[in-house]
Amino acid sequence: MVGRIHTTTAGNSEISVPLIQMNALMGLLSDVLADALIESPFDSTTTPKTIRAFNKLMWIQNDFVNRHDVDEGQQ
Ligand code: HEM
Repeated sequence: MVGRIHTTTAGNSEISVPLIQMNALMGLLSDVLADALIESPFDSTTTPKTIRAFNKLMWIQNDFVNRHDVDEGQQ
């Protein structure tokens, strides 16, 4: 739904956020999340496990964003 809401197929049909900006924000969020986890008080086993788990989640979310992008014929 988060992927679709940024296309004309859900929410406001006049709003279409370009994929390049969706990807840019996903990349920034991924970096902010990793930084927060690196700085977290978790122990040395939990920290890398948590970073890897969130990294997988971000890639799955990124796939959803990409697969719902219809690009409105802009490419
Ligand atoms: C990581 C990327 C992003 C996430 C997780 C995200 C998240 C969301 C969510 C959850 C909604 C729905 C809010 C609701 O139900 O009321 C939404 C809507 C919206 N987002 Fe994003 N967003 C992202 C990227 C962007 C970018 C890059 C832009 C613009 C530069 C943007 C502009 C908008 C707009 C205009 C809406 C309203 C769409 C409509 O009502 O049809 N979003 N976003």
